[in-house]
Amino acid sequence: MVSLVGNDVALAAQLLRDGKLVAFATETVYGLGANALDVEAVARVFAAKNRPHFDPLIVHIADRVWLDRLVSTWPEKAERLSRKFWPGPLTLIVPKTDLVSDLVTSGLPSVAIRMPAHPLALELLRQVDLPIVGPSANPFGQLSPTSAEHVAERLGDQIDYILDGGPCSVGVESTVVLIDGDNAILMRPGGIPLEEIEAVIGPVSVPERTTTHPDEAAPSPGMLPQHYAPRTPLTIVDDFDHIQSPDRVGALMLCAEPSAKQFAAVEVLSQTGDLTEAAAKFFAALRRLDAAGVSQIFAKAFPNHGLGRALNDRLSRAATKPFP
Ligand code: TXA
Ligand code: MG
Repeated sequence: MVSLVGNDVALAAQLLRDGKLVAFATETVYGLGANALDVEAVARVFAAKNRPHFDPLIVHIADRVWLDRLVSTWPEKAERLSRKFWPGPLTLIVPKTDLVSDLVTSGLPSVAIRMPAHPLALELLRQVDLPIVGPSANPFGQLSPTSAEHVAERLGDQIDYILDGGPCSVGVESTVVLIDGDNAILMRPGGIPLEEIEAVIGPVSVPERTTTHPDEAAPSPGMLPQHYAPRTPLTIVDDFDHIQSPDRVGALMLCAEPSAKQFAAVEVLSQTGDLTEAAAKFFAALRRLDAAGVSQIFAKAFPNHGLGRALNDRLSRAATKPFP
């Protein structure tokens, strides 16, 4: 009997080759891995996460040789972005080949490809020598896991192994950019700030947030309004000073604020207001607030630049009512 959590890369690679599910550390969040070329294994990923089939998966690679097999057209902007940011928290959506099944892409003609930067993830991908699907290793709609313990807590009974690479250093998911010929569209803000992407390829369009209902097919389901959500209701406020509640309530703060005293539980993400540090702590902090026995969580929007854009995106999807 092997233990559920460990750092045995050879074992993890063998399990993946055998069609099993292996959660693995990446620099962003933990992924729920399966052989992308094995439709039964991919189907088990959807089942384990309770993920709707209209939400396509990211394919992880460690070696660019896979691009020839998985991608039918590789636009120049994809080349430039991948040369600059891979391995790293950037996912590129490009036209797929027939090798990529419709189950992986939810029937879309494009596939999302990412080369993660975490050394253990890269070692796993090299040893298994297969493309690996990897949605975040959490039940659909819930908070993303940034440690092996988070994965074990919510998905432990559904998966075969968790490759433990310690806490995730980036803490929010990869930035997802769709490249269609010469056009680039931001599908999800994430670990690489938009400013850095635009510095490489020029202007990127940022679509208005979709308000598509989860039951309807969405163009990019990661943009569903309610996602990444704690169980405790979360409300976004302009400031913390005027919150009055007879119950025990919690607050999520970028920097420490004097009003923190009135809350039963407070999570401060960065003493210095550093958005990169805040991103690394974000999901774990929300998880602790969710477990603190408070009736509500209050949070303020982050400055909307750098990683603040990804943080605001996750915060608004965690909120009971998305802010405008
Ligand atoms: O950082 C990450 O990207 C993590 C780690 C584990 O690599 N993975 C992750 O996967 O966040 P997931 O499945 O939670 O998010 C994938 C996002 C979803 O929003 C999905 O809708 C979008 O990528 N996506 C995938 N393929 C797509 C496609 N062909 N067209 C449009 N959106 C796509
Ligand atoms: Mg996810």
